[in-house]
Amino acid sequence: MTAAELGLRRGVLLVVAAAALTAVLGGLVRAAIALPVAPGPHQVALHGPLFVVGVFGTVIALERAVALAARWAYLAPVAGAVAVGLLLAGWSSPAAAAALLSALALVAINVAIVRRQLASFTLLMLAGALLLAAANALWWRGAGVPTVAPAWMAFFVLTIVAERIELSRLAPTPRWASRLVLALGLAVATAAAFSLVSPSPATRLLGAGFLALALWELRFDLARRTVHMPGLPRYSAAGILAGAGWLAVGGWLLALGELPPAGPRYDAALHAVLVGFVLSMVFAHAPIILPAVAQIRLPFHPVLWWPLAILHGGLAVRLAGDLVGSGAWRRAGSLANALALVAFLLAASWARRTGGGRQPRRQPG
Ligand code: HEM
Repeated sequence: MTAAELGLRRGVLLVVAAAALTAVLGGLVRAAIALPVAPGPHQVALHGPLFVVGVFGTVIALERAVALAARWAYLAPVAGAVAVGLLLAGWSSPAAAAALLSALALVAINVAIVRRQLASFTLLMLAGALLLAAANALWWRGAGVPTVAPAWMAFFVLTIVAERIELSRLAPTPRWASRLVLALGLAVATAAAFSLVSPSPATRLLGAGFLALALWELRFDLARRTVHMPGLPRYSAAGILAGAGWLAVGGWLLALGELPPAGPRYDAALHAVLVGFVLSMVFAHAPIILPAVAQIRLPFHPVLWWPLAILHGGLAVRLAGDLVGSGAWRRAGSLANALALVAFLLAASWARRTGGGRQPRRQPG
């Protein structure tokens, strides 16, 4: 890798960090938490797109571009970074256009990967990218975030489940289970595509699909084995299995009834998937992804358990608040979700400074 390429990757991650900071502050304002420093009303309104398109969409685009190892593929993360700049300026329509370009480039990357290797996981990633492109196109044409949010969630779910299927090939999986997960993934993609044109009952079917995929993960993911190993494997596996648990909760909430365009049930269904599943997966995989994508070393240290625990504990309080109608619990849980991100940054820099896990203590005598 050239120095310019590494600089580009790290530059994209810096832009993503700015988007994450603004998105978190915007989320707290939307959760009615008073802040000493708050972003402007445009950025607060764009909390969802900043996180979905700006942060995680761009990180996935970068990771896929690195996997393909072709120069043109960097169009996807670079267009994502441009979308972040436009979102931060509060220009949502040009930002949506840049996000669409990024998603189309991600589709092209996935087509190239499928042509290299035709497998269930490459096909599901392609399906996820197509959904992202369709959702971004609709958003650009003026559709509201609640209309496109189910398809955005499906993009994340398909991409992450595909990554897990790829890794879980290392564990013996019955042939019927491998076929089942492909069928479920394609059903989720179809329901998500329909949700863009006719939300009901497609979003409920999408929820049922998420629930089924979560149960598959909990039964067949490699994490079920690695959770018994000490250190990084156990930490990652815990994040993956807890994330799958939240995907089941989110799927169940979506399947229960029509998704309202705002309010507690909207908050609960969206964040069970986007915080409980997506953010937990990011915490779980960061020590593996950061060195591969940006040559940033992140050795495992037990302190990394703290942010994971704060994330999941906070989300449980937040959803309980959403479901029983307690604004105080909802605010406390939302604050804990934001603090989990801060705690992750602190834990990661501690792990880097100390060079990883604790040295085993000498036995006295
Ligand atoms: C980390 C702390 C977070 C906080 C405090 C937070 C807070 C909120 C709040 C209060 C809402 C409004 C819900 C309602 O209508 O009642 C919201 C909406 C939303 N959030 Fe978050 N959120 C967080 C993380 C995330 C993450 C990680 C993602 C994406 C990966 C995300 C994506 C969204 C989306 C797409 C919406 C819908 C926005 C809209 O309809 O305009 N949030 N969030």
